[in-house]
Amino acid sequence: MANLSINFAGIKSPNPFWLASGPPTNTGEQVARAFEMGWGGAVWKTIGRPIVNVSSRLGGLDEADRRMVGLSNIELISDRPIETNFREIAEVKKRFPDRAVVASLMLDSEKEWHDMVRRSEDAGADGLELNFGCPHGMCERGMGSAVGQEPAVVRKITSWVKKAARVPVLVKLTPNITDIREPATAAVEAGADGLVLINTVRSMIGVDLDRLVPVPSVAGRGTPGGYSGPAVKPIALHMVSALARDPRISVPISGIGGINTWRDAAEFIALGSTSVQICTAVMHHGFRIIEDLVEGLSNYLDEKEMTSVNELIGRVARTVGEWGELELGYKVAADIDPDTCIGCQVCYVSCRDGGHSAIHLPEDALTPGHLAPRRPIITERLAAATETASPGSADSSRRRAHSVSTARTGYRVPWVDQTQCVGCNLCSLVCPVHGCITMREIASKQ
Ligand SMILES: Cc1cc2nc3c(=O)[nH]c(=O)nc-3n(C[C@H](O)[C@H](O)[C@H](O)COP(=O)(O)O)c2cc1C
Ligand code: SF4
Ligand code: SF4
Repeated sequence: MANLSINFAGIKSPNPFWLASGPPTNTGEQVARAFEMGWGGAVWKTIGRPIVNVSSRLGGLDEADRRMVGLSNIELISDRPIETNFREIAEVKKRFPDRAVVASLMLDSEKEWHDMVRRSEDAGADGLELNFGCPHGMCERGMGSAVGQEPAVVRKITSWVKKAARVPVLVKLTPNITDIREPATAAVEAGADGLVLINTVRSMIGVDLDRLVPVPSVAGRGTPGGYSGPAVKPIALHMVSALARDPRISVPISGIGGINTWRDAAEFIALGSTSVQICTAVMHHGFRIIEDLVEGLSNYLDEKEMTSVNELIGRVARTVGEWGELELGYKVAADIDPDTCIGCQVCYVSCRDGGHSAIHLPEDALTPGHLAPRRPIITERLAAATETASPGSADSSRRRAHSVSTARTGYRVPWVDQTQCVGCNLCSLVCPVHGCITMREIASKQ
């Protein structure tokens, strides 16, 4: 079994799975229960001032039969007394000395930062996470994403903290910025020992059309919130990989954003994360997901013959680059497997209206003068269809046999003109039968 343990800038944990700062790390009781189930670390719900909150505070985005593919929150940092949080951190750390316990902090003045750094360390926190990412509530007060959006302020506050801290200092970044590398390099230049991303994406998740109020709403009024969950994963992956391949970023990365399964986690690790953090998936499914996360990642590493998770870190990062570095002579084209095709023709409509009109209905080829190059194949199919009485004489090729059956069912299986196909992938993405449309490599021109 592969070794899942990590050392993140000096913070050790038995596996790379940490709870992200948020509702699941609000109390010592929750974090202790999560550790009992196998979580490797926890970043405490952000501690700071003011100690307030609103009701209601969450809004969900559903998609077809899937609930909460995105989540928006307008929650503030911890609304529990600061001393209670530190007491519970100390208790949890004493009970679980081998797990990573990181204190997330968000303060105003240098003096307050120093005071909270000392109290976090006295409580036994293994590291500090500076929350420069919250996109609502705190930013109006000059904290959270208001800091993360200003590299000069990131640099200033990180160096304040580094002056006082003895444990590793991790900077949590906001995605609400044009180029994530700017605040990231500012943090590293100021001495950050690790980077954490992403915090939530500023968003407006929806409108309640019955009550005619925004979602979520507080006494009939709303405000933009922070978006998280599976829907934000691509944004997070992009930002993690941008930092992982930047030579100026010499510190480890903790990846967050939409991680739901071990596969999501493996993707973050392959693109350059040393640890991964999870919030929304735990809010949705509970702490127990750790069992699948650990087992899935472990099996995957075994299959790939990797003895440790460290071998996966950043493995794919080096294959990501700028658009101009891509191989222009490379080409793929769609190929429909007639044996599994159910003839729904969704691919035909997508390619015609949103692709490159490279997919044709069987009857298209019968129109005089239309799609002449395919006519011999269609003619062959029609011929095969008339031969149904003598199967022994039929050509044994897959296409020919299929021609017979599709002719019987009305010829619903479309076909791809590979000379027109640009290899955009659209048809394979919309096809309801997984694996029915594959993208096949066509001999490179170079
Ligand atoms: C309700 C809620 C509260 C959160 N509170 C905090 C917080 O106090 N401090 C912080 O750094 N991040 C906070 N986050 C952000 C998460 O730590 C995480 O960065 C984000 O949700 C993306 O990860 P996910 O898709 O796994 O949820 C919160 C997220 C949610 C959904
Ligand atoms: S979308 Fe898939 S199943 Fe439907 S017709 Fe196209 S290839 Fe066949
Ligand atoms: S890959 Fe794109 S262009 Fe080619 S057949 Fe599919 S949708 Fe059409």
